[in-house]
Amino acid sequence: MATNPPASSGSFDSAQFRAVLGHFPTGVTVVTGVAGEAGQHPVGFTIGSFTSVSLDPPLVGFLPQMNSETWAQMAPAGRFCVNVLSRDQADLCWKFAKSAHDINRFTDVEWRMSPGGAPILERAVAWIDCTVAEVYEMGDHFFVLGAVTALEADANNDGDGPHPLLFFKGGLGRFLAES
Ligand SMILES: Cc1cc2nc3c(=O)[nH]c(=O)nc-3n(C[C@H](O)[C@H](O)[C@H](O)COP(=O)(O)O)c2cc1C
Repeated sequence: MATNPPASSGSFDSAQFRAVLGHFPTGVTVVTGVAGEAGQHPVGFTIGSFTSVSLDPPLVGFLPQMNSETWAQMAPAGRFCVNVLSRDQADLCWKFAKSAHDINRFTDVEWRMSPGGAPILERAVAWIDCTVAEVYEMGDHFFVLGAVTALEADANNDGDGPHPLLFFKGGLGRFLAES
């Protein structure tokens, strides 16, 4: 099966592509991992393209840009943890999307190591530990397929159920159940 489809010949530019695709709301995750010689240096970046892929076997995926420095740093360890951000973690969404050259993304961030060896951000709505199963090239992004090894929702179990952070048309918001 083809993994790299032909370039589009659509009559639109990249600004229109971004604007239209921005009308699709997503959740917000921070995908974390470890980097460095000893594999103990935490790294992570904000990712909206996270998706569930398969139940049996349990697979998930996300799409980092091919030029992502964070993906290049975490890829050699072959594992990652997806942290689903809560509505109270908008600051982490922007912090983990800023250039890691300008700031240390983990400064003042509470985290602990997951069973699989990647950072869990405290008070995330859910975390999903994975090993890298496959990495596909897709246009200007990779599709990283992860085999799920452990996962938990509402890990802080603080009596206030999980409320996710949502991203829509460039802004952050909250989910409101109506039915
Ligand atoms: C809400 C939101 C969702 C994002 N989703 C993605 C994504 O799915 N893939 C991606 O490569 N970058 C995504 N980004 C941008 C990255 O977070 C950002 O480009 C990255 O942190 C750059 O650093 P790096 O070069 O160290 O990877 C998103 C940013 C925001 C604010």
